[in-house]
Amino acid sequence: MGNFWVSFCFLFPALILAMHAPISTAQLPPSETRILFQVQKLLEYPEALQGWTNWTSFCYLPPSPSLKIVCSNNSVTELTISGNRSSPSNSPKPASGRFSVSQQTLSESFSIDSLFTVLTKLSNLKVLSVVSLGLWGPLPAKINRLKSLEVLNISSNFIYGEIPSSIASMSNLRSLVLADNLFNGSVPDLKSLVLLQELNLGDNHLGPEFPSLSNSLVSIILSNNSLRSAIPSKLINFAKLQQFDISSNKFLGPIPSFFFSLPSIQYLSLAENQLSGALPMNISCNEELKLVDVSHNLLIGKLPSCLASKSSNRTVLLSWNCFSGGNSNNQHPYTFCHKEALAVKPPIKSKESSTMNLGLILGIIAAVVAIAGVLGLLILVIFRRTERRRGEDNKFDRPFADKMPVRSSPRSNIDARRLTQTMRQATLGLPPYRVFTLDEIEDVTDNFDQSNLIGEGSQGQLYKGWLRDGSVVLVKCLKLKQKLLSQSLIQHLEVLSKLRHRHLVSILGHCLVTYQDHPNTASTVFLVLEHVPNGSLRDYLKDLRKKEALKWPQRMAITIGVARGVQFLHTGIAPGVVGNNLKMENVLLDDSLSAKISNYNIPLPSKGGSESPLSGQDDHLGSEIAEKEDIYQLGVILLEVITGQLTTSASEVNELKLQLELGLAESASQLRSATDPSFQGTYAYQSLKTTVGITLNCLCKDPRKRPSIEDVLWNLQYSIQVQEGWTSSGNLSTQM
Ligand SMILES: *[C@@H]1O[C@H](CO)[C@@H](O)[C@H](O)[C@H]1NC(C)=O
Ligand SMILES: *[C@@H]1O[C@H](CO)[C@@H](O)[C@H](O)[C@H]1NC(C)=O
Ligand SMILES: *[C@@H]1O[C@H](CO)[C@@H](O)[C@H](O)[C@H]1NC(C)=O
Ligand SMILES: *[C@@H]1O[C@H](CO)[C@@H](O)[C@H](O)[C@H]1NC(C)=O
Ligand SMILES: *[C@@H]1O[C@H](CO)[C@@H](O)[C@H](O)[C@H]1NC(C)=O
Ligand SMILES: *[C@@H]1O[C@H](CO)[C@@H](O)[C@H](O)[C@H]1NC(C)=O
Ligand SMILES: *[C@@H]1O[C@H](CO)[C@@H](O)[C@H](O)[C@H]1NC(C)=O
Ligand SMILES: *[C@@H]1O[C@H](CO)[C@@H](O)[C@H](O)[C@H]1NC(C)=O
Repeated sequence: MGNFWVSFCFLFPALILAMHAPISTAQLPPSETRILFQVQKLLEYPEALQGWTNWTSFCYLPPSPSLKIVCSNNSVTELTISGNRSSPSNSPKPASGRFSVSQQTLSESFSIDSLFTVLTKLSNLKVLSVVSLGLWGPLPAKINRLKSLEVLNISSNFIYGEIPSSIASMSNLRSLVLADNLFNGSVPDLKSLVLLQELNLGDNHLGPEFPSLSNSLVSIILSNNSLRSAIPSKLINFAKLQQFDISSNKFLGPIPSFFFSLPSIQYLSLAENQLSGALPMNISCNEELKLVDVSHNLLIGKLPSCLASKSSNRTVLLSWNCFSGGNSNNQHPYTFCHKEALAVKPPIKSKESSTMNLGLILGIIAAVVAIAGVLGLLILVIFRRTERRRGEDNKFDRPFADKMPVRSSPRSNIDARRLTQTMRQATLGLPPYRVFTLDEIEDVTDNFDQSNLIGEGSQGQLYKGWLRDGSVVLVKCLKLKQKLLSQSLIQHLEVLSKLRHRHLVSILGHCLVTYQDHPNTASTVFLVLEHVPNGSLRDYLKDLRKKEALKWPQRMAITIGVARGVQFLHTGIAPGVVGNNLKMENVLLDDSLSAKISNYNIPLPSKGGSESPLSGQDDHLGSEIAEKEDIYQLGVILLEVITGQLTTSASEVNELKLQLELGLAESASQLRSATDPSFQGTYAYQSLKTTVGITLNCLCKDPRKRPSIEDVLWNLQYSIQVQEGWTSSGNLSTQM
């Protein structure tokens, strides 16, 4: 009878639906049974799945720790399989350092893609747990076809590559456990997972940025990765957070003071990082806080009372920092932490000793600063060298698909396109990239109604429009420079779907219009763009009331956003996009004041467009110049942000630049007086100084002397770190 069902359904899938009704709820339909057999085979018959026959009733298996199947409404809703293959962190490292199929992994013929293709056919699955089974390969982006999935646990396997950003569209996820695998690269933006409570990405190679997460989270585990950033202040909004473990990474900067009093916090492990500075003395700890582990960092100063008292039931682990005072054993000497903390920070030319260190150890500091200066210079030299080399063989961290040769065989082109589309599909909460028809574009813009025309730039007209779902978009019309065969445009269009980034006005789709008499020749491309409603940075700085709301930390956050956007344009896609016409009015701000660059140089061979990636090799020089022009323009934005003054001419820029140069050379008070008076001193002087320094470099007359975008970003990040440290420990000077 079973045999009959299997072969029957195989031959006549269309009939299955009709035949469902008579089967009792105790029985899975043959289609699902067949999937389970396929899983058994693809997993190479693990012990947990042995002894299955065509008569096994899968929904009523005897309880077992290694296999659990739960059915509901004639389909599998939970599938939990555990194997006994050991995990990457327990396996011997392959000599080459690269991944290789080992005895602990499934065989070389295993295909993770086939496995997930089969698993996603269990479309009602709510819980999927496949643990310690020796799975290897990159996690397929199609995992997001499991729309109802609430729990995904694929820990302790050998899954490598980037976490697919499509995961961000699995909106029912409550628990995401990818721990103990070989994932690398940066974590995709998971903010859209607003139901997510548990996130465990521990024991991978993820980094360097702290991921963007939803504040619904109760448990965040990122231990044993390659994260290298400051602890983000955004976490202050994570009211439900009970467990936070970022141990064994390379986090730097100060520990924000709010952490110990987060409303739900219980376990806080920050051990084995490079966190530095002193803990503010006035912090309070949440009553429920049971464990604080800050051991093996570079912390200094005394302990605040809520961590020092031994009476409570709270465990506080402090060893191997540089804490002073009675109850701190196993500490390094103060100079150790101070030196190390300087060493892990980006190099800056001069170092202002902060007030808290003045006094007895002034001499030591002077010596340390001198050494750090030399070290810093060395690092800078090495950094520039590697950077140059990196420019040549082009192995900067990029998504896998972007590394594929752009012009290889047509077949690989198609694969690359498919890959990027699915990869970027669900990032940023944007709808997937799509191709529009001309009818749809006419529909969106109300047949290009004049009242919807909002601008006319060098590349073409810009219309406001509405999609069917009511969302507002912009439609940009690009007249093509020369008659281009639609075929040869495909490469360009491929780039469009990659232009999606948190700090760019992203492209949602396009429409290609061909000549009526030459249907293979394209005349116009319409681009459908994201609409960012809150106005531009220029609007903010012009409007006195809004301007006062933009204090130093906000302005820093905005400019870091701009720099990230530029970094993405320059290095995040291939070929890089340069000549981006950066200016205040092209920096749009969204509801959360996050910056998005608009009007950047869309790499299509359009009529007025300045750039064409197709125009040959001697463009290399031109593109380098355009890259440095971007840096200059970014410098102008920084200048305006610092001084609060909008410039309209090169001479005004030079005037402001001169004032900052003088301030930097003369005295702190002079530099302060050159900044926007609405700051009212709400900044760390060192943060201001660092930003001014990099701004002046960006504005160098000689383009070759202007820094790279990485340099700029690095300095801005350092500056904001200093600022955050200053904000969270503003009263330190009175305590030390
Ligand atoms: C189950 O049925 C299929 C299809 O008839 C057959 O090929 C297979 O050998 C059967 N398996 C078992 C374990 O009886
Ligand atoms: C089972 O199916 C019925 C009817 O289709 C539906 O009303 C019910 O919600 C389903 N139950 C579950 C647990 O999915
Ligand atoms: C897993 O367990 C089975 C049965 O006990 C055993 O034969 C096999 O060697 C084990 N595999 C590993 C990797 O330990
Ligand atoms: C971190 O991971 C590495 C390799 O993946 C492993 O050898 C090491 O034991 C892990 N460390 C901790 C603290 O878990
Ligand atoms: C995931 O699997 C591991 C190993 O079986 C287990 O320890 C952990 O509790 C699981 N997590 C979830 C959320 O199911
Ligand atoms: C991630 O790992 C893969 C394979 O091990 C490697 O090719 C790739 O360069 C790594 N990517 C990053 C960003 O480290
Ligand atoms: C600690 O003191 C600083 C500076 O005086 C202040 O900004 C901060 O709000 C205080 N924190 C708490 C938790 O009281
Ligand atoms: C410590 O825990 C015990 C048992 O939970 C409790 O009875 C005791 O009051 C606690 N002590 C303090 C100081 O909170």
